[in-house]
Amino acid sequence: MEGSKNKDWWKQCVIYQIYPKSFQDSNGDGIGDLNGIIQRLDYLQELGIGAIWLSPVCQSPQDDNGYDISDYQEIDPMFGSMEDMERLIQEAENRGIRMIMDLVLNHTSDEHAWFVEAKKSRENPYHNYYVWRDGEEGVLPNDMKSCFGGSAWEWVPEVGQYYLHQFSVKQPDLNWENETVREELYRMIRWWMEKGVGGFRLDVIDQIAKEPDRKITNNGPRLHEFIQELSRETFQRGNLITVGEAWGATPELAKKYSNPDGSEFSMVFQFEHIVLDQEEGKEKWDLAPLPFLELKRVLARWQEELYQCGWNSLFWDNHDLPRIVSRWGNDMEYRTESAKMLAVLLHGMQGTPYIYQGEELGMTNVQYQIEEYRDIETLNMYLERKVKGYKESDIMESIYAKSRDNARTPMQWEDAANAGFTEGKPWMKVNPNYREINAKSQVGDPDSVFSCYQALIQMRKQYSVFVDGKFQLLLPEDERFFAYTRENQDGKLYVICNFYGEPAECSLDEDWGKMELLYCNYGKENGNGGNSAIAYQPYEARIYLLRQ
Ligand code: GLC
Ligand code: CA
Repeated sequence: MEGSKNKDWWKQCVIYQIYPKSFQDSNGDGIGDLNGIIQRLDYLQELGIGAIWLSPVCQSPQDDNGYDISDYQEIDPMFGSMEDMERLIQEAENRGIRMIMDLVLNHTSDEHAWFVEAKKSRENPYHNYYVWRDGEEGVLPNDMKSCFGGSAWEWVPEVGQYYLHQFSVKQPDLNWENETVREELYRMIRWWMEKGVGGFRLDVIDQIAKEPDRKITNNGPRLHEFIQELSRETFQRGNLITVGEAWGATPELAKKYSNPDGSEFSMVFQFEHIVLDQEEGKEKWDLAPLPFLELKRVLARWQEELYQCGWNSLFWDNHDLPRIVSRWGNDMEYRTESAKMLAVLLHGMQGTPYIYQGEELGMTNVQYQIEEYRDIETLNMYLERKVKGYKESDIMESIYAKSRDNARTPMQWEDAANAGFTEGKPWMKVNPNYREINAKSQVGDPDSVFSCYQALIQMRKQYSVFVDGKFQLLLPEDERFFAYTRENQDGKLYVICNFYGEPAECSLDEDWGKMELLYCNYGKENGNGGNSAIAYQPYEARIYLLRQ
């Protein structure tokens, strides 16, 4: 495969995240599946991506949509069979696309054979695979909370102990202090490597080294020791991409995680830019405006700090986040323009960009009746806030803005029943705007959001400055423009984005006539020379190249 001998192949490519349940159904049961993905590989090849990060497809009771795994070495029948998975890996490879699996190593499902054994007795050989504390029924070991609401402890009468679950009660935490657990996991990972996968995304990896007695959840003292062992025993034996999910990462920590010596991962997902519209001490559900200058500062700091001593992941969206065009763009009048602007802003930076399914179409958030929501986190919050006496309309406003289901509505393929996602009844309602927003109408249309992503992916392949150019933020105090340069021996890029919905003038004083306009979301005729060089339309984004 192209670039497979190149150790850092993942620095050049763009990765596409698939949430399998919502991508493409192939057998009419209303649930996306592996054969559905195979049917859509040509679409992804046309987009130009180099790898797919596939959210979990292993056997699971689906309490948290597959992030609760009951068998790491079986495919959930809902998604297909192991043969389908092998075929998907092969078919993707035929198109130059690698498969990145989602590894959930912090916890299993409570229906995993290990946990079924573990809760039988304290003497059971699997008991110590999980995290237990003595206590009495009704007297919790401490007040630790689950990320999905309620206590993080659950009583098991058979053993007279509580087990820890940082997520749902059906997601008991694995005990990483136990060497046997670690070895079991490494064996399983090597087994997947032999199947030819191209890499792994590591779910909530910064929570594996928890120390509940000190109420430590992420960044526990043994975290990097565990990760280095994990990397040594598995990933370092192959030419893989690895990306850890680390909500608690700072640039300092990210330099460790993504150390170029390869001792941990290729990169991490950090969330500093994502939580900016969440105020200190508040929950994500308490809505607040985006502090724009802070967004620039945070992204610039990550760019600068990791330059040549680490590697960034670049993303706006994933299956846990609302749609970026609805969040920081404008999903009404300027949906197309603002979706492209956000794409340009992100893809011009240094790091590996991730596209979440439907982002390349400018798919938007939804506003459903509460009965239409499926996400456990959303439903728990709804009940909790109801009990606390919040107003129904306020609760729904939060859900419209932040529910994870905004990202999980079925992929919008065409203007046909259920957007072409399924011939049956979809497991979650399709966003009614599929009639205007769908892949079929965008592929081949030079003005579509899809074509914008396609162009950005091509530019990254064509110009080395996208990959290794040094980043510099311009106009840090400007309240409207997000502007920066990237520079290497071949040239200097100017990425200039009007972040808002009013026309604006950019105060950068450069000789624009000397530069080549590589991209403009209003078409290339616009923006080169004369007055138009400084006048920007709503959400206008341009990329200029100055060749050295
Ligand atoms: C990660 C996943 C999320 C899941 C959680 C627990 O944050 O992205 O979807 O609910 O881990 O596994
Ligand atoms: Ca199906």
